[in-house]
Amino acid sequence: MFSPEAFIEEAVEALRKEISGKAVIAVSGGVDSTTAAVLASRALGKNLRAVYVDTGLMREGEREDVDATLRSLGVRYKVLEAADRFFGELKGIVDPEKKRKVIGNTFVHLFEEEARKVGAEWLIQGTIAPDWIESGGQLRDRIKTHHNVAGLPTSMTLEVVEPLRDLYKDEVRRVARALGVQVAERQPFPGPGLAVRVLGEVTHDRIAVVRAACAVVEEELEKASETGLMERPWQYFAVLLPVKSVGVEGDVRVYGHTIAIRAVASTDGMTASFSPIPQDVLGRMSTRITNEVRGVNRIVYDVTNKPPGTIEWE
Ligand code: XMP
Repeated sequence: MFSPEAFIEEAVEALRKEISGKAVIAVSGGVDSTTAAVLASRALGKNLRAVYVDTGLMREGEREDVDATLRSLGVRYKVLEAADRFFGELKGIVDPEKKRKVIGNTFVHLFEEEARKVGAEWLIQGTIAPDWIESGGQLRDRIKTHHNVAGLPTSMTLEVVEPLRDLYKDEVRRVARALGVQVAERQPFPGPGLAVRVLGEVTHDRIAVVRAACAVVEEELEKASETGLMERPWQYFAVLLPVKSVGVEGDVRVYGHTIAIRAVASTDGMTASFSPIPQDVLGRMSTRITNEVRGVNRIVYDVTNKPPGTIEWE
């Protein structure tokens, strides 16, 4: 039986043993990295430099949420402003694996620069079991390069430490709860951020479209599950497709973007089934996204399980 309390004690002890100097950790505000940061901060105190990288690829309100979360947990951190750098590196890239690698490399360069500044030799990561299993661990085929695992360049000089690497998502959530981490109930969000929810080239404009559409999906599905209309999905978001289609606005022809809504039930992200959403909730999301998000004129609902689909589209 998994005991969160015993795990916390062992993980803090193991971090103290393994790390004899300073370490850097990047926090994204998600359950995994926040939990890893609290463990690391308990183990290392002032020898830990926590950073939040503003990639420009995060969800609406994310930076403010991260700030509130980390403050409440007493984890001191620094913001690295890097949006221009990420958009510059991603220019012209459409291949999903290339995107993931470029994002991973850009993160690592930022961490190395920060580590050099503070004299750190270790990099602590919030990697959990499904991340490395799906990145091609344990003789399995590589399904995707999770940026925080196989996306790391081989030239990296920092030593990587992963206190959560043997845990599955439900176990991380239990550890988070035991540590008083408030984001514990929040839905998972991928390391490469909204970049993997924009199929095709990642630009400021296209990220703004998917960010606004994701916010509507989150708001409507949270409302629907709070009022008992449906079960809360494990993960729910919007994807911007690289397809335009013809529509009509007033009596004028438009040629606009397509948004896919994705909502799945899962326990660990390894398998998933698409969530049944009541028709009027689907209708409300469709109306709101087409009214509120500029340039979108078509909404589709993804009814694919995992397998054969993955949860994210890239
Ligand atoms: P897929 O899309 O492979 O995703 O079915 C399984 C779960 O993992 C999340 N995901 C990621 N998490 N780094 C992460 O930390 C990543 O690069 C990454 N890619 C996907 C995904 O959102 C889902 O919860």
